[in-house]
Amino acid sequence: MARLVIVSNRVPGPRAKGAASAGGLAVALQSFLAPGTLWFGWSGKVAAETSTEPVLVEGDGVTYATIDLGAEDYDRFYVGFANSSLWPLLHFRLGLMRYTRADFAGYLAVNDAFAKALMALLRDDDTIWVHDYHLIPLGAALRAAGFRGRIGFFLHIPFVPPSVLEALPPARELLHAMCAYDVVGFQTRTHLADFVDCAYRFSGFAVEGDEVVTDGRRVRAIADPIGIDAVSFARIATRAASTAYIQRVRESLVGRALVISAERLDYSKGLPHRFEGFACLLARFPQHQRRVSMLQIAARSREDVVEYQELRRELDRLAGDINGRFSGFDWVPLRYMTQTVPRTKLAGLFRIARIGLVTPLRDGMNLVAKEFVAAQDPADPGVLILSRFAGAAEELTDALLVNPYDPDDIADAMHAALEMPLEERQARHAVLRRAVFEVTSARYCDVFTEALAA
Ligand code: F6P
Repeated sequence: MARLVIVSNRVPGPRAKGAASAGGLAVALQSFLAPGTLWFGWSGKVAAETSTEPVLVEGDGVTYATIDLGAEDYDRFYVGFANSSLWPLLHFRLGLMRYTRADFAGYLAVNDAFAKALMALLRDDDTIWVHDYHLIPLGAALRAAGFRGRIGFFLHIPFVPPSVLEALPPARELLHAMCAYDVVGFQTRTHLADFVDCAYRFSGFAVEGDEVVTDGRRVRAIADPIGIDAVSFARIATRAASTAYIQRVRESLVGRALVISAERLDYSKGLPHRFEGFACLLARFPQHQRRVSMLQIAARSREDVVEYQELRRELDRLAGDINGRFSGFDWVPLRYMTQTVPRTKLAGLFRIARIGLVTPLRDGMNLVAKEFVAAQDPADPGVLILSRFAGAAEELTDALLVNPYDPDDIADAMHAALEMPLEERQARHAVLRRAVFEVTSARYCDVFTEALAA
């Protein structure tokens, strides 16, 4: 059987199993990592120069190979094109997009450097699975370096329609690069359809159904929603709920309903709108004052990108406003933390929460929504409030779906969730649970690798 080579910007490393730092991608792929697999990417370290020789580390039969990024490459590739051009663009935030030709050149150069360093480790019959927006040109770079085997690409974040993509100056180059792969995967049918429209519009290649026909090759586009290891997450949540830490949190609530939100501190997550939604709930439905406590965990992220620094200041201000306006002597409505919280603690917090508030303005999938569902006690489940613009909304239709731009809509949904009778909570949760236990991380990996092998 061909060896599988995974390539992603972040590489978890053998000790990061299930750790908070591992991120959704690493956790999703962890159960799939058979001995013999090679995982290649950035070490997370910034050095004077981008390294040419990967450092290899073994763990459970898996080889993790990483290179450092030079300071200028880090600025142009990671802070620049990946996170200041592509990230806002593909989350429909054209107003936040910043583009320079120098950043794009740096992005291509780092992808070339990845390809060169990886080529030295490859065998002819390897199958390569490339992940996410940092590495769109990697397939073309590997082809240019002489690799002839199968290469697939999966985009973890949304894709946009042609009228949005056209704002990116190198839209055509990017589309061409995506067409160098054998299989291109998306989280939802909507993202796939937008890609096919863009391919038709920008690449100049013919499109037949979900396939793009390039010079003599076919690129197959698939929708393959990512999931979680629901059985294991449910087990972790059940155990965590009886730990001393979670008991302390429970005691601190003194019977109040817990509303929980947890993600990276990112402008795509709709945090200011959500804070306003919570303020709206307290103002419009004062019966919930003193009866509800919201916990927002927003782990600091991409702190070298200006927009993230500004968002942090805005959230500090909004959190202060809300607590200043509504707090009582013995009640602080909003608990707001910017530290990273380990997955086991998160699972326990989800388990004891009455509401999971997941309201990104745009999201590829959103695994927190799925983890919240898996963590619930089916006999007395919490209610998931979910943005209709998260990929997860295509599967989790029994959540309370909201427009995350509308604080009143968020407040109405919170009110409905707080008043919801047990039978309705159970009925909604049963449907959500089936979806989360069916479309798992294992299924996601199988669907993609089967398509790539075909
Ligand atoms: O959501 C896209 C993604 O690349 C995830 O795979 C990852 O967990 C997250 O962003 C982390 O971002 P960064 O690598 O910039 O810290």
